Amino acid sequence: GNGARSRGPRVDGCLREIPQPESGGWQVTGYLLFCVSTAIIGSLQFGYNTGVINAPEKKLQTFFNETWIQRKGAPIDSGVSTVIWSFTVAIFNAGGMIGSLGVSAIVSQFGRRKSMLLANILALVGAALMGLSSACKSFEMLILGRLVIGTFCGLCTGLTPMYVGELAPTAVRGAFGTLHQLGVVIGILVAQIFGLEALLGSDSLWPLLLAATALPAVLQSVMLLFCPESPRYLLINLNREEEAHAVLVRLRGGEDVSADVEEMKEESAKMAMEKKVTILELFSNRAYRQPILIAIVLQLSQQLSGINAVFSYSTGIFENAGVTHPIYVTIGTGAVNTVFTVVSLFLVERAGRRTLHLLGLGGMAVCALLMTVSLQLAEGTKSLNNLSIAAVFAFVAMFELGPGPIPWFIVAELFAQGPRPAAVAVAGCANWTSNFLVTLTFPKLQELCGPYVFIIFVVFLLLFFVFTYFRVPETKGRTFDDIAQGFAGPADAVRNPGRAPSSQGGKRGGGTLGYKGF
Ligand code: GLC
Repeated sequence: GNGARSRGPRVDGCLREIPQPESGGWQVTGYLLFCVSTAIIGSLQFGYNTGVINAPEKKLQTFFNETWIQRKGAPIDSGVSTVIWSFTVAIFNAGGMIGSLGVSAIVSQFGRRKSMLLANILALVGAALMGLSSACKSFEMLILGRLVIGTFCGLCTGLTPMYVGELAPTAVRGAFGTLHQLGVVIGILVAQIFGLEALLGSDSLWPLLLAATALPAVLQSVMLLFCPESPRYLLINLNREEEAHAVLVRLRGGEDVSADVEEMKEESAKMAMEKKVTILELFSNRAYRQPILIAIVLQLSQQLSGINAVFSYSTGIFENAGVTHPIYVTIGTGAVNTVFTVVSLFLVERAGRRTLHLLGLGGMAVCALLMTVSLQLAEGTKSLNNLSIAAVFAFVAMFELGPGPIPWFIVAELFAQGPRPAAVAVAGCANWTSNFLVTLTFPKLQELCGPYVFIIFVVFLLLFFVFTYFRVPETKGRTFDDIAQGFAGPADAVRNPGRAPSSQGGKRGGGTLGYKGF
């Protein structure tokens, strides 16, 4: 166990099982925080580029039109303009799907740190293409830039949670994992604010708004020069024990890291045969079937909750409900979003992943019902207007308690070193694909169902609640090896978590899946 090992006598048995932050056995050093912050810049980038396209919609359409007139001598057909606009929005997701799948290959080839460094080349190319598109009078450059920046963001959604998960001490791995989502939501909020007409969302400055993503890319590249390769990668994949040891000593602030090293060596020995697992093997090997199913379904639960329907179309939703200043309410959703991610950060190591995910899904279902009722009745009624705003805020808050942060970091937790890159790639791609489908179909669904559209999400939320209740194990405070062992155990253990198979070493959690959380 991480908790009690470094101070005082070694305590065996149950006292060692759950690391207690109070015991001081792990330490969050300045250097660890520096490395994690560096990686989180990738999350900011993902959030920023997700949110940045909403505000300048009208300006971009004007740009399409002007380019068109210059080339063809006549204004653009409104249908053509809509097609180009939809393409500009959607191609970001296509890039994300490609990038997220690419994580597996690039990370096994270059390691975690160099992959992040290389990814930034894409950020710079994408920023240049988008930023210069107006000067070059080419909307093709803008579209290509969105594709490249989407690919970059797809890489970020895999690389950041993986690096952070591998660096974090076990006892705070969830809180650190939530930092990825905190980066995302801050990125969205910054994009919403920068996108205001008075700031960078104006006719002349929008290219700068889109190109601004180059700055964090440069900053992250410089900071990465001072970050180490993940010690787990060094030891387990490259067999460079001394280096891994030195990195751990720095990250943990000189504490005795022998237990960490020991645990990694155990993992290394067990997976001698499967140091690199391909995406195909992930599906063909029985041992991975449970965890990959859970990883994918959790990503689907995040996206099919309808969160991005609310984020992408909130201004319109509020407008329909008769709200006077919808844009400010939209920025309000961004603020609520950020605050509740911080709340989750503090809860996740106490309440556990499973409980928070259940709470979030259940809460979102209730809020979506409230939204339906209030939007249905709202027109013109002030008090119901306020109720629909409150329901949307609460919906977003519930999302950030669990369904926002947890799916992103739990994938790295569910798999040991060998299959982790392939799993992160598959889960990331599931996320990007389902996000794409929701964003693409929501306007049509809204047209067809009116205010009842949110009932669709209620149904999904309830299904995912049931799945999480029966299938998702608690991973709080458990080592990667222990979690992987839990899945590899006899099917019996999966169905009867109370009866732990004795062969599993009885380390933290004894290999049980702990369905009932804490
Ligand atoms: C998560 C989702 C992303 C969403 C964001 C909202 O990161 O993956 O799609 O926009 O949360 O906060």
